[in-house]
Amino acid sequence: MRHNISFCFAILFLLLGLSCGKHKTSLSVQQLRCEYREAPLGIQQAAPRLSWEITSPARGVVQQAYRILVASSPELLEKDSGDLWNSGKVESALSVGVRYAGKDLKSRTDGYWKVRVWTNKGNTAESAPAHWSVGLLHEGDWSGQWIGLDSTFAWEAPHAPHTRLAARYFRQEFAVDKKIKQARVYVSGLGTYQLFINGEKIGHAELSPAPTQYNKRAFYNTYDVTAALKSGANALGTVVGNGRFFSMRPNAVDAIPAIMDFGYPKLRLQLEITYTDGTVKQVASDTGWKATAAGPVVANSEFDGECYDATREMPGWSQPGFDDSRWLPARQVQAPEGRIVAQMNPLIKVMDTLHARTVFQIAPGKYIVDMGQNMVGWAAMKIANGKRSDTVRLHFAERLNPDSTLYTDNLRGAETTDRYVMKEGAQQWEPHFTYHGFRYIEVSGYPGTPKPDDFVGKVVYDDLPVTGHFETSNPVINEVYRNAFWGIRGNYRGIPTDCPQRDERMGWLGDRAVGSYGESFIFDNNTFYAKWLQDIADGQTDEGSLPDIAPTYWKMYTDNMTWPATYLIIADMLDRQFGNLEPVRTHYDAMKKWLDYMKDKYMSGYILGRDIYGDWCMPPRDPKLIHSTLPERITAGDYLGTAFYYRMLQLMERFAGLLHKPEDKAAFAALAGKVKAAFNEKYLHPDGSYSNNTATANILALAYDLAPDSLRQKVFGHVVQTTLHDFNGHISTGLVGGQWLMRTLTRCGRPDVAYKLATNTTYPSWGYMVKEGATTIWELWNGNTADPAMNSGNHLMLLGDLIVWFYEDLAGIRSDPEAVGFKKIIMKPIPVPGLDRVQASFHSVQGWIRSSWHSKDGTFDWQLTVPANTTARIFVPAGRMEDVTEGGKAANAAEGVRFIKMEGDRALFEVGSGTYRFVSKRS
Ligand code: BGC
Repeated sequence: MRHNISFCFAILFLLLGLSCGKHKTSLSVQQLRCEYREAPLGIQQAAPRLSWEITSPARGVVQQAYRILVASSPELLEKDSGDLWNSGKVESALSVGVRYAGKDLKSRTDGYWKVRVWTNKGNTAESAPAHWSVGLLHEGDWSGQWIGLDSTFAWEAPHAPHTRLAARYFRQEFAVDKKIKQARVYVSGLGTYQLFINGEKIGHAELSPAPTQYNKRAFYNTYDVTAALKSGANALGTVVGNGRFFSMRPNAVDAIPAIMDFGYPKLRLQLEITYTDGTVKQVASDTGWKATAAGPVVANSEFDGECYDATREMPGWSQPGFDDSRWLPARQVQAPEGRIVAQMNPLIKVMDTLHARTVFQIAPGKYIVDMGQNMVGWAAMKIANGKRSDTVRLHFAERLNPDSTLYTDNLRGAETTDRYVMKEGAQQWEPHFTYHGFRYIEVSGYPGTPKPDDFVGKVVYDDLPVTGHFETSNPVINEVYRNAFWGIRGNYRGIPTDCPQRDERMGWLGDRAVGSYGESFIFDNNTFYAKWLQDIADGQTDEGSLPDIAPTYWKMYTDNMTWPATYLIIADMLDRQFGNLEPVRTHYDAMKKWLDYMKDKYMSGYILGRDIYGDWCMPPRDPKLIHSTLPERITAGDYLGTAFYYRMLQLMERFAGLLHKPEDKAAFAALAGKVKAAFNEKYLHPDGSYSNNTATANILALAYDLAPDSLRQKVFGHVVQTTLHDFNGHISTGLVGGQWLMRTLTRCGRPDVAYKLATNTTYPSWGYMVKEGATTIWELWNGNTADPAMNSGNHLMLLGDLIVWFYEDLAGIRSDPEAVGFKKIIMKPIPVPGLDRVQASFHSVQGWIRSSWHSKDGTFDWQLTVPANTTARIFVPAGRMEDVTEGGKAANAAEGVRFIKMEGDRALFEVGSGTYRFVSKRS
């Protein structure tokens, strides 16, 4: 089996309560709160990687050994029989990503497993059992055919730009005649599906499966449906919508570019019922199924909205006994071009709900519902007294015009309108085959006067547990963080989208370069981004070119360096933040191929003079412009291309080292040396400025170690000068320079300047967006005044490295490059004048890391937690080691605390796991 499929996790996170007592071990074993970390069903890999988490209040707890047992049944596991795998007692501190090495796991195999750990405290603990099941690994495991209705019906209009295609409904009845042991459904409805058994919806997935490069791969999902079946007659029903499969804009017209189209919606499903007598019954999609496109979902498009006609509802359609004589026989249709594999990234679900804040009238029969927050998902609506066949129209937008009407110019061609044709009487409705980015809904045709209670915002995105909390004494920073949180959750849709509202919503690579790193502190986005790297790889051309967008629904191959670089940047991030080296391993060859392709095609004299987008969306002086036209503000494309090429070589050198490829490593280093020399030769001026002296140019030279050591201070001086003087203490970077702005300012010695940028409330700044009423992050620094054509209210790219800076520098929580995945931690908070307090916590793969400090009158009071089985280097702001206490005692005498040395204005200590309180007074 190839391993370049979505990498697989059978993660079990455990809380093992270990006492700190010398003789006694008191255990408390609990499941972790985060719900996604449930045992995954239908995994795609035959050698899953297993992880666990140890918690203990004791200091300095280190795992000394583990033993994993994997059994084919819960009963065997209970008896401590690892019939599939018994790792034996392994002397090791490893607790993340231990690869299964037992008997071959075939399709459909269940693995029940637990782990026992032994610690240096002389105690041991065992986890609760957890479970995975292997999915259908081979095409031959499928008996379900691809079925559909590959034709257009009278009420449909499949032509551009606003295609109107009805959802396809499929049904089949079957009998259960024996006692069921277990029943599982494997299902893929492309673009997206809803699954029902006997009238009940199965699972909580929305907009599933996740979108992919369908000509290379498509996903299926697995559900345990044992409890949904009953003895006797049963029925399966699925509704399949367009999603990203049947394109939102299939045919190019005028200015609207076509979006790849993969064909009419289709379904493949396989229900496998295992009876207690060991026999298996399969119910698989085939031409014996019935299908119709005449159900209530009469049109659906992620851009344009859903049209639902309640008068066309078909009560009981997914229950047995329904009269489907007017339905059509399902047809066997062409399989998608790509392979079908299990989805290993989390499902999309309704993750939150918001109640409408206010409703007000703007014209007779026209109301505006204000959710109070720019959110992504849809609205559920209640109607007390509907009139049959009348239509309620819900039009969604992010902003209002000054006269309180809906501002829709920035939505471009997206209609963002749901239409609901009512039945008689009381009713409720919400769509499932579209989504909107909105704060406001213009409601028309609603019977009576709508009230806030009649609308609930369903916040819909990938089920990624929240892993970070961050708060400071500065309200602007807190608001910006909050807006970032809402923006990030709003731009997860199985892929990281650029925006959720206009006719775009694409996985633009450049937008999430370092952004994904910041996000990884707030959301457990490990499997999510690993999946996206596969989408990127699936978009690579045979020559090696990487796309600007993945999946390549728009075929954008501009051979620009800065956007595709995200492929390597994220692989590096996943290793550093999650200790997940799999993506590097999987994609190494493709990365190398891309760099060779770019070198051969575009490099001359070691300068890679190819760029398309520049430092995208740097703040223009003219408030109406999207892009600055002033030459002194524009960082040259060849400069960016070469700097990024150099950075890629640095990453490849690191990857080659990690994968034990010494020849490659040496070759990347040698080429990097030549690029660096040519770069400095061409762009470095004697005064220590680079190129045309933009902050972005100088920042990249510093961040990528291109600047010679002897000139770093001078180069940095230019960054400070540009920021403080030329831009009057304001930001001057766009998508590219912003990736390193805050960390470079801080780590080169001016955290006060970074802090100023973070707390500004005048243009251009994040605080300016807040002051102007934003509840997410804008696409443009001047999002309130610029041309609406490219002006979304919910983009992430301008966050740059702000979130990384919040966690790594303000809170001081950073993974030590010496041992990635927070196995070793660097805790080095940066107290900045004006900031009194920071409180942060982050659930790393090793466990919770916390850092809360306040600083007052020369006293720095810092409480921190280091998870079990890790160590941390603690940098306490102090003039002398003697000025530091821990838990009220001299720090160097405190349990588990080791003083290392003074480093500048920091006392450096090393600690093991535990909670500590360091206090230092400036003497
Ligand atoms: C997208 C951006 C993207 C850019 C690149 C825009 O339309 O919204 O986020 O990176 O195009 O050209």
